[in-house]
Amino acid sequence: MKFISIQQAINKGKGKVSIRGWVYRERGSNEFKFIVLRDSTNIIQCVFKKENFSKKWNEIDSILIEASMEITGTVKKDKRAPTGYEIQVSDYKLISPAIDFPIYPGESFESLLDKRHLWLRSRYMTAILKIRSTIFGAIHEYFRNKGFYEYHSPIFQTTQCEGGSTLFEVPYFDKKTFLAQTWQLYAEPAIFSLEKIYTIAPSFRAEKSKTSRHLTEYWHAEMEAAWCDFKELQDYGEELIKFIVKKVLEKNKEELKLLNRDIKKLEPILKKSFPRMTYTQAIKKLKRKITWGKDLRTTEEDELSKHYDTPIIITEYPKEVKAFYMKENPKDPKTVLGYDLIAPEGYGEIIGASEREPDEKKLIKRLKELKENPENYKFYLDTRKYGSIPHAGFGLGVERLLAWICGLSNIKDAIAFPRTPDRFTP
Ligand code: 4AD
Ligand code: MG
Repeated sequence: MKFISIQQAINKGKGKVSIRGWVYRERGSNEFKFIVLRDSTNIIQCVFKKENFSKKWNEIDSILIEASMEITGTVKKDKRAPTGYEIQVSDYKLISPAIDFPIYPGESFESLLDKRHLWLRSRYMTAILKIRSTIFGAIHEYFRNKGFYEYHSPIFQTTQCEGGSTLFEVPYFDKKTFLAQTWQLYAEPAIFSLEKIYTIAPSFRAEKSKTSRHLTEYWHAEMEAAWCDFKELQDYGEELIKFIVKKVLEKNKEELKLLNRDIKKLEPILKKSFPRMTYTQAIKKLKRKITWGKDLRTTEEDELSKHYDTPIIITEYPKEVKAFYMKENPKDPKTVLGYDLIAPEGYGEIIGASEREPDEKKLIKRLKELKENPENYKFYLDTRKYGSIPHAGFGLGVERLLAWICGLSNIKDAIAFPRTPDRFTP
């Protein structure tokens, strides 16, 4: 017997088919049992007639949600069926029964997180995970098309890069080390060999903030490029986002529909240029003025992004609020050549980027201001000693991007098993 997917059976639309999957819904009457079967591709209603299965009726009647089965029968169009097609079952095999499936209508968000290993089977999570897969594929495709090499940094690292307060300390035999916040300090040395590199890897932040935007473990798509200037760096960020949204719109219309995502909100992304403005210009647009020098909080990011239906790029932040490695702006040394790319609809910063400071002395000065011992950064500072070149890079938070593209209310649904300050099981 050759099994086909449920989607293939629907596409075929008539004749004999064999499918397999899990029971999505079941209901019975005296004469019939209706089983909606699901697989990774779709769902379809399957009808068992009692008169055809009199000997096995007890088994059929007792089949519960999430039992696994093989079904053979004749597929035909039926307007009343959930996906417009129905299978009249001629034969079946119960692969494995299921006990009462412990997910019920109206469960709370937290309760679904407790049962995440089972909730992954929902059409909701399946749709999100499919879009997630498209996004990962698109990131690889984009960078490889542009001549970037895939490169990997260690996850055990000995220094901070994005601020000491969000480091996860890990015992390392009789010493200690930290989980990677970013690949960056280990990526910069590699551009001297490969020039243009990218990765997608987990990053870790001991971020106490319990917001709908923060995870303690997230997937980080990062790029680093030799000779890349600040304008090019902004173009890369904008192009990458456009490329990803285009791929999702091509491949995942069904999934977006299932998530009730209004795709009209995504379409402008492909057509328009992302507005670019400096931090100084941005804070002038705010209703409630902030003092120059203060970082933008999420409320201010949200207020700014409200005026646009595409992401926006905010450049040249004050030096003090940004990481030590960002290049001082030659035209205004109080600021750095870095940018944040802010998603529309209140999803916040999805890319953090900068040209890198080439001057070793300036790097050392900034590290000291942060109470860091420059000795620990010797390997990194060496990059500035042997043929240092202009270079730049960025990091994109994949779950934040996915949350925005899918219109999720919480970043936790953008990853199979989310980790936050108070959740690390299952
Ligand atoms: O702005 P960040 O901290 O930048 C860096 O780590 C740079 N070293 C990247 C680079 O230049 N190679 O982080 C980059 C992105 C953010 O814009 C955000 O999308 C995501 O990582 N991010 C998080 N996503 C989920 N949960 C968290 N706690 C996150 N922290 C950062
Ligand atoms: Mg940032």
